[in-house]
Amino acid sequence: MSSPADPALDPVARLVLDEAVAVAGDLAGREVLVVDDVALAAAARDAGGRVRAWLDDRRDADAAEAAGVVLADPWAEDPLPVELVLGRLPTALSALDDLAERVAARAPAQVRVVLGGRVKHMTRSQNDVLARHFGEVSASLGRQKSRVLHAAGPRPGERRWPRTSVLDEPALGQPLTLLGRGAVFAEGRLDAGTRLLLQALSPALDRGPREADALDLGSGSGVLATWLARRGLATRAVDVSAAAVESTRLTAGAADVEVDAAWSEGLAEVAPASVDLLVSNPPFHRGAAKDSTPTLQMIDDAARVLRPGGELWLVWNAHLPYLPRLRRAVGRTEVVRRDPHYLVTRSVR
Ligand SMILES: C[S@@+](CC[C@H](N)C(=O)[O-])C[C@H]1O[C@@H](n2cnc3c(N)ncnc32)[C@H](O)[C@@H]1O
Repeated sequence: MSSPADPALDPVARLVLDEAVAVAGDLAGREVLVVDDVALAAAARDAGGRVRAWLDDRRDADAAEAAGVVLADPWAEDPLPVELVLGRLPTALSALDDLAERVAARAPAQVRVVLGGRVKHMTRSQNDVLARHFGEVSASLGRQKSRVLHAAGPRPGERRWPRTSVLDEPALGQPLTLLGRGAVFAEGRLDAGTRLLLQALSPALDRGPREADALDLGSGSGVLATWLARRGLATRAVDVSAAAVESTRLTAGAADVEVDAAWSEGLAEVAPASVDLLVSNPPFHRGAAKDSTPTLQMIDDAARVLRPGGELWLVWNAHLPYLPRLRRAVGRTEVVRRDPHYLVTRSVR
């Protein structure tokens, strides 16, 4: 049985596990769904739970598999035979709403949900979101700057996710219907950096060849990939988030275009010299922590996946140190557009 002293668990996961035992008793033999926490999934399994894990981030899913945790797609199961749902509170309320809706729609009446977070990241709005989908919502006492929210009594209601939003902006050329899961970046809207990238790319594509292989790295809701496919480019998309890959496929489907979307990290699974146009509004953080490492890695890998003469178009926050890296790793790089916050660069392989 895992205990609060388990060194693999951070204080949030330890509290989730202890609170789960407090409300549901011993985990041995219990059907448990763990969301987005590899160490918690392993600990719940070691405590005897029959654990299935759902990890949105491909890197987490790979780590969980390596740790022998059983991965599952719980959202393909309806009804979903779980007694306990354990995990971390997503920071975005839309992501929490989507998760709570999914659980409440499928899980049995006796399901108990225990989601934890750092107190400094928690708000009353999270209780309100859970209360839309569960009859009983309460907060635990705090411990080590952490706290959990308990929810019980699912109230399946009208399904809102994935959510449909129509974007009608000059930068898109024509209205575009987004279908987004709650955890996706810029759900339901056009990000300011993405808008600048579209404004810069559009005249260049008007002048460029009609046929090209394009790839959108970090496709999110699929807005860029769908826009490229609509312009007739053979388009692939990559995102490390399963919610983003699903959203990209749905958005492309709604526009009646083909986008080949893959759930993977960076450009690792993209064949050498297979891309003419690589576009990205790249990630700048992982979870709550700022992290440029995946983007620097992607810049290094761009040289490998681009054909000679192929182009990398990137929008990025002007204070980030990407310019020397782009010139060194990819080739000649020019700033095509800028606003007070972002730069759009074009690098030619
Ligand atoms: C700033 S968002 C851009 C989303 C979308 N292209 C747009 O313009 O609205 C960056 C995206 O990169 C994805 N991402 C983060 N790290 C990644 C990685 N290592 N490999 C692939 N995608 C990643 C995130 O899930 C997110 O969807």
